[in-house]
Amino acid sequence: MRRPFIAGNWKMNMDRASAIELAAGVAKATADLEDVDVAVCPPSIYLDAVVSATKGSEVGVGGQNMYHEPKGAFTGEISSAMLLDIGCQYVILGHSERRHIFGETDADINKKVKVALEVGLTPIVCVGETLPERESGETLNVIRTQFDGSLAGLSDDDMKKIVIAYEPVWAIGTGKTATPQQAEEVHLDLRKIMESCYNSEIAESVRIQYGGSVKPDNAAELLGQPNIDGALVGGASLKVDDFMGIIAGAK
Ligand code: PGA
Repeated sequence: MRRPFIAGNWKMNMDRASAIELAAGVAKATADLEDVDVAVCPPSIYLDAVVSATKGSEVGVGGQNMYHEPKGAFTGEISSAMLLDIGCQYVILGHSERRHIFGETDADINKKVKVALEVGLTPIVCVGETLPERESGETLNVIRTQFDGSLAGLSDDDMKKIVIAYEPVWAIGTGKTATPQQAEEVHLDLRKIMESCYNSEIAESVRIQYGGSVKPDNAAELLGQPNIDGALVGGASLKVDDFMGIIAGAK
């Protein structure tokens, strides 16, 4: 049985005070929550404050990105060890905004995934097709290419530690959600890929989140699909009530 996992990707939003307030609000609201994992991923500059605000709670904290090198002359970057040091358990890698705005390739993401696993962070690895790719019937090919490239060379043990997020690019921040059937089709395909590249135990145990305009009113139906194990939530993770509405849909 896969435990549902709801993560909030705050992207480049919030100021320090509102980040602390939101994190503390989520920590409080989830105090009696059972059987669901919850994490928040604030901008890196607020990680320290958010780790403090969620201390003693069940809420995990994740970075939104990192660089694969351990240290050195990489102006503006942060390392996996820094994320761990500040108190993170998770790191989002290969988000479509990283891929499409900042030009990250599957090879870049693969290096990051390996380094994150080495230090003990759980990578949330994002895959997803653009609208033209979907319209030309390329969705499953794109997912396969991203899976093969971003997760290349992982051992069975490493693969078990990964969380995958399927995020169709056309559904991110657009208010357009993949239908539960569209999402389920890709999630099932990802499981088949894992079964063929690894084995059925891994295919059955790895959690696959859906992301792309998840809201309180569509969460339960999406999360009710047999192969959707959670959500990576952008806009609706910025308000405690909305985020809690989505978490309620996972129960
Ligand atoms: P959204 O973002 O929920 O605002 O669509 C999701 C994401 O990019 O992770």
